[in-house]
Amino acid sequence: MYTCEPGFGYYIYSHRSPEVQLTRPTPDDTDWRAGCNVARNPDERAKALGFNPALTQALTQALTLNMTDPENHNLPKNAVEVRDLEKVYRGSNGAEGHRALKKVSLEIPRGSFFGLLGPNGAGKSTLINILAGLVNKTSGEALIWGYDTVNEMRAARRSIGVVPQELNLDPFFTPRELLDLHAGLYGVPKAERRTEEILDAVGLLDKADAYARTLSGGMRRRLLVAKALVHNPPVLVLDEPTAGVDVELRRQLWQYVRQLNEAGTTVLLTTHYLEEAEELCDRIAIINHGRVVACDTTANLLQRLDSKRVHVTLREDIDAIPDALKRFDVTLSEGRELEFQYQPSKMRSGEIVDAVRDAGLRFAEIATKEPELEDVFVQLTSMNEDPEAPA
Ligand SMILES: Nc1ncnc2c1ncn2[C@@H]1O[C@H](COP(=O)(O)OP(=O)(O)OP(=O)(O)O)[C@@H](O)[C@H]1O
Ligand SMILES: [Mg+2]
Repeated sequence: MYTCEPGFGYYIYSHRSPEVQLTRPTPDDTDWRAGCNVARNPDERAKALGFNPALTQALTQALTLNMTDPENHNLPKNAVEVRDLEKVYRGSNGAEGHRALKKVSLEIPRGSFFGLLGPNGAGKSTLINILAGLVNKTSGEALIWGYDTVNEMRAARRSIGVVPQELNLDPFFTPRELLDLHAGLYGVPKAERRTEEILDAVGLLDKADAYARTLSGGMRRRLLVAKALVHNPPVLVLDEPTAGVDVELRRQLWQYVRQLNEAGTTVLLTTHYLEEAEELCDRIAIINHGRVVACDTTANLLQRLDSKRVHVTLREDIDAIPDALKRFDVTLSEGRELEFQYQPSKMRSGEIVDAVRDAGLRFAEIATKEPELEDVFVQLTSMNEDPEAPA
């Protein structure tokens, strides 16, 4: 007889004991998502995991109770937390070091789809590589799933799957071998390996037995994504995962990552495709010159820019902007296209439309344009120099 008390978070089971343990899962001996999977697809999953029906029922019940009530989650509030993180890369041959991260503090809420954006050299990969344990921080603190990346390194590393920006695959392994090897390194029991499911999700099932060296650049990147997923990490970090990946597969990849996110995985993403970030991420941090210059929900970030545009197509060409419209910030192109930029806090678009009509112009079409993430990004990162750097 298995009973699951409500009030303990998603739970889950231990590989080492047949008992259901209602404690916070430690990545060392548990599959934190097993319970979620059971809840989503009880029969099939339970069979695959070797659960008996009573256990499955108890788990499903506990999960249904717990997942609907966030107060019951005995899990960290933030999947990732960094505080006052600093990184100084040492200069070679006595050259001065480079301060790549400057007192960076960030909280990435559990379950979020978080975008980390910034121009080239802003420090995104440095931050991610510190989380992944590939770069040593100079000072400050970084926690993954509540575990300190230095003092609780093993637990922290098991809680995170990282797709690095650089392609780092062994060319002599096939995708299947590579995922199996990686699962072995993380101690994932054979019965729970999802090699085929993951390869399918990244569109590489038909290449499962081909040598990695024969894969195209985009396929290799997708294989890296697959590799980061084998140990079911609660936090998935993707450092420009879609660079060089074609449109269709990019869509497929995002669909899968979205599904993972919906099932509870926290996703941290860096990308230079801002439309992609705008569409996928619920929160976004922008870094520039190693400093966080914005961190907010995507919706708030977009609203922050007090600027909208109205595009008016006239019925007839005009030679110049009429005097009556010169009080607006307006440009004329192709004889009949007028583009107005205005601050919604100070003016309404109707005022512009009235003014165009009062100027005796007839219009064929009017469209208002909302600010895009790209506009916000450009505004926040347009400074070429770090304004807070000592002179
Ligand atoms: N190993 C290193 N040694 C010295 N400097 C480094 C090293 N790695 C990165 N840097 C420097 O640190 C800064 C931040 O680099 P980082 O790779 O974190 O940027 P990024 O935001 O990921 O950029 P990109 O968008 O181009 O990937 C850059 O100025 C870079 O030159
Ligand atoms: Mg980078």
